[in-house]
Amino acid sequence: MEEKILIVEDNKEMIKLLTEILTSEKFSVEHVSSGLLAVDKIKNENYNLIILDLQLPDITGFKVLEDIKKINENIPIIILTGFGTTDNIVKAIKMGADDFVEKPFDIEDFLNKIHKYIKLKNLEKELTKLKMIESILQLNRTIITLSDSETILTTILNIIDDMFAPERIGIYIFDTKNNNYVLKKCKFKNASQKIKVNYKDYEIEGFFKDKNVYVGKFNNGTYLKIMIKGKEKNIGFIDIEFKKEKGINEEIIKFFESFSLQIGIGIENALLFEMVQNSYINTISSLVKSLEAKDKYTKGHSEEVAYYALLIGEKLKLRDEEIEILKNSSYLHDLGKLGIRDNILLKPGKLTKEEFEIIKQHPLITLKILEPLNLRKEEKEACLYHHERVNGSGYPYGLKDEKIPLYAKIISIADAYSAMTSERPYRKKMNKKEAIEELKKYAGIWFDKDLVEFFINIIEQQKEVM
Ligand SMILES: [Fe+2]
Repeated sequence: MEEKILIVEDNKEMIKLLTEILTSEKFSVEHVSSGLLAVDKIKNENYNLIILDLQLPDITGFKVLEDIKKINENIPIIILTGFGTTDNIVKAIKMGADDFVEKPFDIEDFLNKIHKYIKLKNLEKELTKLKMIESILQLNRTIITLSDSETILTTILNIIDDMFAPERIGIYIFDTKNNNYVLKKCKFKNASQKIKVNYKDYEIEGFFKDKNVYVGKFNNGTYLKIMIKGKEKNIGFIDIEFKKEKGINEEIIKFFESFSLQIGIGIENALLFEMVQNSYINTISSLVKSLEAKDKYTKGHSEEVAYYALLIGEKLKLRDEEIEILKNSSYLHDLGKLGIRDNILLKPGKLTKEEFEIIKQHPLITLKILEPLNLRKEEKEACLYHHERVNGSGYPYGLKDEKIPLYAKIISIADAYSAMTSERPYRKKMNKKEAIEELKKYAGIWFDKDLVEFFINIIEQQKEVM
């Protein structure tokens, strides 16, 4: 492809000379003699290099330079002038010009400069292409490793931000219940920016009638809407806003077209997978409920543990996904009791040492049951470690403080509080004050000290619960 150069110069002799020199080097050359016309042309066409005279009949070369940079900061600009004072050179370079040529000039030197900047520009383009390929590969790796939708969306957001540094990115996923697109992830360059959190489906329809990538313009910038295409239907879209009026070339659009297909498949699979996973968890949770219902003393226990654990989780400002992990683990933590014989599990009196050894197996049994299911590692670990104590006296492994995951520590407190405030065949239930005293007594020994303090603060503000 021929490299295209725009000459912005009002001197006819100079235009003729430059055109001859440049066409003899196989460049495609265009020229304009007014600054305003130059800005207009650059808005609408792609050039590989601009030769700019500082003295123009309408606006100054500096103004043209300023406007070009606003449109596309990557075009190399060589200033050509008969007024090559140091001040002008410094000013133009500061404003983003790449080089300076004084009239009259040496043809060889001049051509060397032109070739140098065009080569540099081409090298940059190649690097961008490589970066695009690399990011598609990176996305593929994330998808292939069966990541959850949250991880895939974060990867997409980071790839776009790294590559194009736009002003704003928003990723929307279609919600079939409400028939609208809901904002799932976003990133801003400027913290004061706002973003729409919902789009009705009819607001989006028009953008993707016959294409996957829509390029639009607004006041001082460009926006892209990229469809996230599922196997059968549109499952979402990405909204990207750029400040520059231009800068979205064919290559970027092509990149987003392949990107659109890739992410569609990845997100759709992840969402399906999560749906299956959720129904697993719901099935197991009802299994746990029926297990607890066998005994009037443990009826509703896991639900109560989930309630207390989530109180802590919400106060800790855990993210949605973390809250979900905490909730699932709270429901599943005692699942392993399914594998313990009823005569031990439901024994009204105190357990013998041997019987207690059997009870201690329940976190390991829970893990065994959950192992083949594709639950999150954190969920399995929270169940496995919910009887560990910070001083290392817990079971099944006797893990110490820093080795016990946060979720397990939270469940351990919620579990203990729920057990203490419930009736047991061998003891009366404690009231809130007594249970709090008990938690305080073992804070830093069995339970995480800070979490206990946190939990007590929440509980004390509540009326007698449940
Ligand atoms: Fe347990």
